[in-house]
Amino acid sequence: MTQNNFYITTPIYYWNGVPHVGHFYSSLIANTIFKYHKISGKNARFTTGIDENSQKAVIEAEAAGMDIMDYLDSMAVEHTKVWDHFNFDYTDFIRTTEPRHHELVQKVLQKCFDKSDIYEGEYEWMYCVWCEAFKKDDDLVYLNIEQNKTFPIKQWVKETTNIIKICPDHLKKPDQIKEKNYFFKLSKYQTWMEEFYEANPNFVTPRFRFNEVIAFTERGLEDFSISRETNTFGIPLPFDHSQVTYVWFDALFNYYTSCVSSRGWDKNNENFTDESDMFPANLHVVGKDIIRFHAIFWPAMLASYFDLWEDKSGVIHYKTSDLEKLPDQILAGWFFTVDGQKMSKSLWNVIEPVDYSQQYSKELLSLYILSWFPIGNDGDYDRTDAIRTYNAKLANNLWNLVNRVVVLSLKLDHKLWAGIQDFVNLSWEDYWPKMKELFPESAEAILESYANFEIVKQSMASYDLKKALDTIFMMLDDLNKFTDSEAPWTLLKTDLEKAEIILYIIARRLVMVGFELYPFFPEKMAQMFEKFGLEKYDEILEQWNLEQLQKTTPEFNITEKWENLFDRFDI
Ligand code: MSP
Repeated sequence: MTQNNFYITTPIYYWNGVPHVGHFYSSLIANTIFKYHKISGKNARFTTGIDENSQKAVIEAEAAGMDIMDYLDSMAVEHTKVWDHFNFDYTDFIRTTEPRHHELVQKVLQKCFDKSDIYEGEYEWMYCVWCEAFKKDDDLVYLNIEQNKTFPIKQWVKETTNIIKICPDHLKKPDQIKEKNYFFKLSKYQTWMEEFYEANPNFVTPRFRFNEVIAFTERGLEDFSISRETNTFGIPLPFDHSQVTYVWFDALFNYYTSCVSSRGWDKNNENFTDESDMFPANLHVVGKDIIRFHAIFWPAMLASYFDLWEDKSGVIHYKTSDLEKLPDQILAGWFFTVDGQKMSKSLWNVIEPVDYSQQYSKELLSLYILSWFPIGNDGDYDRTDAIRTYNAKLANNLWNLVNRVVVLSLKLDHKLWAGIQDFVNLSWEDYWPKMKELFPESAEAILESYANFEIVKQSMASYDLKKALDTIFMMLDDLNKFTDSEAPWTLLKTDLEKAEIILYIIARRLVMVGFELYPFFPEKMAQMFEKFGLEKYDEILEQWNLEQLQKTTPEFNITEKWENLFDRFDI
């Protein structure tokens, strides 16, 4: 990890089904943060992908009468279609069935096995194939088959032919499994983990989620099973071909595989390159249900693989000097309910991002998700609030103002800036005295609101996307107030030069706000720059050059009243 590198990941999603708004949420956060770092000049990479090695896939492919790989290929297309619809800019899409991933995971497993961090044991537990998870009694409910009713396992009831334990999510009886398994010696890293957390108080954000992880760790880490004998589809253990790797050891290392042999910047480019210097990630974006795997299993696996520990009298300790081999931070998102209810196919309330964005707009979806809730708290997707937020912020606050500037600029008989070149070219030292002379009432407020750009920058750097958006829209409120108080439409009749200066100040601010909003709404901001006659601004941004544009004096060339970029929606 070097200063100018930035590496962000989404979870790799299970292959089954089309990604819904819950999955979209992680990808949206990652894409937005990635874009921000990219345009700011960082050597940025962003990975996503699918988690494919699962017995469930074999069952479903058989049921569909398809070859397993053809089946998974078709599912992968369903996933990339969604991300490509939103123009998500991932630099690598990883599939865990790829040879590059198999090779890497086998290498890791062998190394951990050789140093005895992986050992053979016996495993007996209940396993729900549909969750891909082992179940304890607490995770299950009783089903009374006669009454077709479920009830929680509060007290022990003997299982009979009528009463069985089932998975509450899939309403299926888990398999009872007893088999030879290999285990990862997580317990060895108990002290290491506690010291690592102590030294990295921001490792998981938000903090209350980190506290949960710490409390869980302090209750004592147990070794966990990393292989399956009964599964046939997966990565074979290099030291025992009768077993395949169980999901987490396989899935988590996708973040490393993708660096070791990366598809590179162009997602269609199949030439693999080594980008291991980008590893580890600056940020793993995850949902709250997989924090433990990322915050506990993952650092321990890396500690084992890279030998990031020291043994003092039989106790394994953490070394601060190893920090650069471990991820910086894990950002845990919220869990969606929709209109107050858990998202579920049977309730018909699953929000499918593509359909929904076609019904409304991509920006409505993104704006609501990122501006309504601070990342981390659970939240309810309220469709009415989503429309209200969009109408207020993008359709009114931003777009009305843009329209006003456009309509008024068209009244000039020259390009906006051409009549006020002396003002436009003022140096920073001369600019503020001039501003104070022209706008004794509001110059101070304009100067002060500059500080907001710094707040946006800091918020983006600390992944507080809500705060960044709130600050941007506050700046737009101020700009609307400035416009109302200076009333350029009146001045156009009496003081043409001052009217043009006002329009220029507003338009220039809108462009600066456009830079801030670009990571959130790249397509619309690119269109806005184009309509302002600012050519290739989006291309320059995409070439990591925000700074260059911030220094450029825009020469507006507004030639027509445009169609609406942010239509209002009725509730
Ligand atoms: N394959 C694993 C991740 C492996 S990463 C090394 C997995 N896949 S998943 O498809 O089930 O979930 C992917 C992500 O989507 C998880 O972070 C999960 O929390 C998130 N979400 C799934 N449903 C969600 C909501 N209803 N709301 C918010 N996020 C949710 O887990």
